[in-house]
Amino acid sequence: MHHPLLYLFFFSFFFFFFFFLPSTSSSSPELIQACKSSRFPYSCSQRLSATLPSLPPSPSASTIILSVFNSSLHDIPTAISITHSILANSPTSSNLTSAAHNCLEVLPYSFRRLSAASNLSSADARYWAAAAQQYLSGCSSTLQAANTSAFIAELANRTSDGLAMLAALQRYGTNMTLWAPVQTERDGYWGTPTSSKSNDWRRRGVPKEMAVNLTVCGEGDGCDHRTVQEAVDDAPENVTGEWFVIRIGEGVYDESVRVPFEKTNLVFWGDGMGRTVITGNLSVGMPGISTYSSATVGKR
Ligand SMILES: *[C@@H]1O[C@H](CO)[C@@H](O)[C@H](O)[C@H]1NC(C)=O
Ligand SMILES: *[C@@H]1O[C@H](CO)[C@@H](O)[C@H](O)[C@H]1NC(C)=O
Ligand SMILES: *[C@@H]1O[C@H](CO)[C@@H](O)[C@H](O)[C@H]1NC(C)=O
Ligand SMILES: *[C@@H]1O[C@H](CO)[C@@H](O)[C@H](O)[C@H]1NC(C)=O
Ligand SMILES: *[C@@H]1O[C@H](CO)[C@@H](O)[C@H](O)[C@H]1NC(C)=O
Ligand SMILES: *[C@@H]1O[C@H](CO)[C@@H](O)[C@H](O)[C@H]1NC(C)=O
Ligand SMILES: *[C@@H]1O[C@H](CO)[C@@H](O)[C@H](O)[C@H]1NC(C)=O
Ligand SMILES: *[C@@H]1O[C@H](CO)[C@@H](O)[C@H](O)[C@H]1NC(C)=O
Ligand SMILES: *[C@@H]1O[C@H](CO)[C@@H](O)[C@H](O)[C@H]1NC(C)=O
Repeated sequence: MHHPLLYLFFFSFFFFFFFFLPSTSSSSPELIQACKSSRFPYSCSQRLSATLPSLPPSPSASTIILSVFNSSLHDIPTAISITHSILANSPTSSNLTSAAHNCLEVLPYSFRRLSAASNLSSADARYWAAAAQQYLSGCSSTLQAANTSAFIAELANRTSDGLAMLAALQRYGTNMTLWAPVQTERDGYWGTPTSSKSNDWRRRGVPKEMAVNLTVCGEGDGCDHRTVQEAVDDAPENVTGEWFVIRIGEGVYDESVRVPFEKTNLVFWGDGMGRTVITGNLSVGMPGISTYSSATVGKR
């Protein structure tokens, strides 16, 4: 005599098989493959299946990345109007108000950078995408107190998916079966140079343990500087053969950092996405800033 629970078990198995298998397989195999570049492959493929319904059959790596960026670009205006309504509904001069103001300033920057990143043949595409993603995740994290910010959090996550894919494309090529999760400086991976300006990165080598040369923190004691710009001003010129590392503590730095051409081999090392946020209108095309993007925006 079979135990009734056994039937229940078989029934549930059947139920899961029948109802859940088809829904997972609706993510295209290419999308699942591309999401292997993400730290969170499952949520990546779930998120993108939901937001990229118009993906053509058998999309190439570039098509997927461009669709991700395109969908983010389309949603940034919505993010802006959501932020306007957060602003309208929050008390004046609350933390939320200043977070919303900050977002209203950086969301258009994010849009411009993501537009630039959509030229995948540009050597700096990844740096533009990283900057765009940084603005979005900074905005998302400062708006955390507002429950309506889930839209922007999803947008930041989605852009992050696209950025991971772009990094994988540049590292592993168009064959997505070779793609693996992003690695950053924190994993000891310093990337393959993509811009002619930094073509000598690999030859020059990178220290195994990154020594810190200057520290910045917005609050608290024991740091060399309060602003990133002061640290940049303090950094030596014409450094060759080694890095000059500026460690930037957690915080929101509302400044436009200018890195003069002579400040070579500068590395900005932050506390990670949404923790160290520089909100000024950085120009990623400037020397040194691409270093900033790769070091600060690296996903933990
Ligand atoms: C870009 O996104 C919009 C809105 O999501 C969509 O209608 C359009 O087809 C997309 N274009 C491409 C090339 O993916
Ligand atoms: C607003 O931000 C300040 C500074 O970060 C913090 O000390 C304070 O607790 C925040 N207020 C609220 C209501 O979250
Ligand atoms: C894309 O980038 C490449 C390489 O920098 C450049 O030659 C091309 O003009 C750019 N295309 C557009 C549409 O800006
Ligand atoms: C935000 O949403 C969560 C869950 O939906 C709820 O528990 C919380 O009270 C909400 N917070 C605010 C400030 O509305
Ligand atoms: C964004 O990604 C983080 C990390 O995977 C996750 O914890 C969070 O729930 C995501 N948020 C949204 C709105 O998708
Ligand atoms: C992609 O890489 C896999 C694993 O190395 C290989 O088996 C496959 O033939 C490659 N596909 C193409 C189109 O090169
Ligand atoms: C760095 O190099 C530039 C250009 O060669 C030069 O003008 C400048 O004086 C140098 N700076 C230092 C501190 O040597
Ligand atoms: C940065 O600090 C490390 C450790 O103190 C030192 O070896 C290195 O020379 C410094 N870099 C520069 C460019 O001064
Ligand atoms: C960047 O910000 C400065 C002031 O912080 C402003 O003067 C400048 O016009 C801005 N540039 C762009 C491209 O937004």
